[in-house]
Amino acid sequence: MGSLIFDVQDVTLRFGGVVSLNNVTLHQNRGEILAIIGPNGAGKTSLFNSLTGVYAPQEGTILFTNSQDKSISVIGKKPFRVSNAGVARTFQASRMFSAMTTFENVKIGAESHRGLGVVGAMLKGPATRRDDRNSDQATKELLEFVGLTSQANTIAASLSYGARRRLEIARGLATKPEVLLLDEPAAGTNPAEKIELAQLIRRVRDEMGVSILLIEHDMKLVMSLAERLYVLNFGSVIASGTPDEIRANPVVIEAYLGSADAGVAEETK
Ligand SMILES: Nc1ncnc2c1ncn2[C@@H]1O[C@H](COP(=O)(O)OP(=O)(O)O)[C@@H](O)[C@H]1O
Ligand SMILES: [Mg+2]
Repeated sequence: MGSLIFDVQDVTLRFGGVVSLNNVTLHQNRGEILAIIGPNGAGKTSLFNSLTGVYAPQEGTILFTNSQDKSISVIGKKPFRVSNAGVARTFQASRMFSAMTTFENVKIGAESHRGLGVVGAMLKGPATRRDDRNSDQATKELLEFVGLTSQANTIAASLSYGARRRLEIARGLATKPEVLLLDEPAAGTNPAEKIELAQLIRRVRDEMGVSILLIEHDMKLVMSLAERLYVLNFGSVIASGTPDEIRANPVVIEAYLGSADAGVAEETK
């Protein structure tokens, strides 16, 4: 079993004259909770999009290796292929089906993973009916895991921010990933919800064995959760290390002080 789940080498992504990722080299160890931090516009979401097949960087390589030691080269692969290989993500701006219930939102994740099309779901042959029971069961277990059982029949739009963030995590997990990419999972939540989310994210790794790759602006949260971090600034990796190493790194403090986003500096005080 390879120890790296993601191996990113010399990745450069450009949009016309804008360089969103500049020669980015980084890796994630299997089972690690890894974070990407950096000021707005640093390239964090571009990196996630590149790791999931949404963007195709012009230069470099991105290798994803599953627990069976099978590697895929991500650049040039369609997002659904990358997802089927074991990479799941949540989005910065929530993309739920807000008119559906909590239960339905998670079940869709489970079904899309199985490749059950709309026609298959309508025909409901014996195999489909059995699959249907399986995804009902999987959905129930996931809602239990994220603490949303009592809100299974609540319309997603009326959930609290904290509950919505947990629903997004359940949807990501429904595709049975090996790594879960979380883009600002605590956005819009209150301090109590942030603590709950941090606990949930840690349980996803500890109890489900899913590696976590996290973008998060809340420095307290990210520093308490991540085992290692990379700092992006203007598309380049400017630092990497443990939370203690990052907090003490003058290059990082300078990058944050030079922007409106003084989270790291604030936290170091
Ligand atoms: N689809 C796109 N088209 C043009 N420019 C983009 C696109 N996606 C990202 N960028 C640019 O890449 C840079 C990094 O953006 P982004 O990855 O969203 O940063 P972050 O998530 O760190 O705030 C920005 O200058 C942004 O405008
Ligand atoms: Mg972003």
